[in-house]
Amino acid sequence: HWPAPQAGARHWAAGRQRGTRASASGPLLSSASAKPIGEGRGSDRIGVKASTSSRLDCRRPPEMAIRRGSSCAVLALLALASVAAVSADVFFQEKFEDGWESRWVKSEWKKDENMAGEWNHTSGKWHGDAEDKGIQTSEDYRFYAISAEYPEFSNKDKTLVLQFTVKHEQKLDCGGGYVKLLGGDVDQKKFGGDTPYSIMFGPDICGYSTKKVHTILTKDGKNHLIKKDVPCETDQLSHVYTLIIRPDATYSILIDNEEKQTGSIYEHWDILPPKEIKDPEAKKPEDWDDKEYIPDPEDVKPEGYDDIPKEVTDPDAKKPEDWDDEEDGEWTAPTIPNPEYKGPWKQKKIKNPNYQGKWKAPMIANPDFKDDPYIYAFDSLKYIGIELWQVKSGTLFDNILITDDAALAKTFAEETWAKHKEVWSHFT
Ligand SMILES: *[C@@H]1O[C@H](CO)[C@@H](O)[C@H](O)[C@H]1NC(C)=O
Repeated sequence: HWPAPQAGARHWAAGRQRGTRASASGPLLSSASAKPIGEGRGSDRIGVKASTSSRLDCRRPPEMAIRRGSSCAVLALLALASVAAVSADVFFQEKFEDGWESRWVKSEWKKDENMAGEWNHTSGKWHGDAEDKGIQTSEDYRFYAISAEYPEFSNKDKTLVLQFTVKHEQKLDCGGGYVKLLGGDVDQKKFGGDTPYSIMFGPDICGYSTKKVHTILTKDGKNHLIKKDVPCETDQLSHVYTLIIRPDATYSILIDNEEKQTGSIYEHWDILPPKEIKDPEAKKPEDWDDKEYIPDPEDVKPEGYDDIPKEVTDPDAKKPEDWDDEEDGEWTAPTIPNPEYKGPWKQKKIKNPNYQGKWKAPMIANPDFKDDPYIYAFDSLKYIGIELWQVKSGTLFDNILITDDAALAKTFAEETWAKHKEVWSHFT
């Protein structure tokens, strides 16, 4: 059950700039109340705390309490503390229930070329719940572009979670399954492949070589692709993709609520020049010993080694009886390889006791590096868009969530995708 955020989404669609606050654990969700974003933060949080404490359910304690295996009374206390700390902002949520069309704008991009594909509001050919619908691409060889607006926000100093489910019923051979977050002012009727975006996230499949989760962060008009290879799911079932970007400039990518990649935005994208570079002035010292092995001084060439011939005359050869020296020339015995001959002498090698390792220039601070403490942040996030080219249609999107609370997103995935996900047995 996920009632409150939808109400919020309708408010947003009506342009009333309302966000929705929800708390992070399952049974508390129903207590979420819509509050204007950015107003009275402190009291809002206290309000959430107060309204949720009485609703605490000992059977579903917060994670922290489970680990400690405490009694119910202690759980309640801990939960109180954690709820106060984790009250969440839901910036956007879409389950594609009735009324979704009032929140989404179909772009006219590619319409004049007759290349704009139609979306089908459906649960698809197979599903865990026929009533749980999403939007599915329904025509082959078409471009798709659709977007929804939510109250503008910045993820400065807060966590950003972008999550959605996607199902490729068509056995996708080449096409995207990603979404974009856009900022500033976008003419949604013209939203298309060239519209600048802030974040692009989700699976992309093309042939055998491309089966990855795209995570593109746009900074100063430049798209930066993640440098890590994050494989995506390739079957025909629904999967949840989650991107978490934290204010400490770390990120995580989850598929089906499991972390597949995590790390530092500094390291896994080339958004800024590197913090340190090899000192260009440094030179390898003349006496640097980088030979790992040296000839063994103990190994001396045995005397007479070089005098051993490669070939010797065959001792078993005999001059044929009918050999005629006058007609056939003087008989000489044929030669055979000398079993004593061991090739040119090679001195044995030993580990060099003075080996200093391969020389590396020392790292120095990069003069071109200027830290951007907001490397992870976007000033304006205001729209979510789906913009795809599909050779074969059948990709179905559902359960979109943009929030600042990873725990809430996890619960949302459990309550939506996990509950209704198809299993192979549905169609065998
Ligand atoms: C929409 O999807 C359903 C379920 O797969 C299908 O039966 C129907 O034909 C589709 N409609 C369009 C217009 O593609």
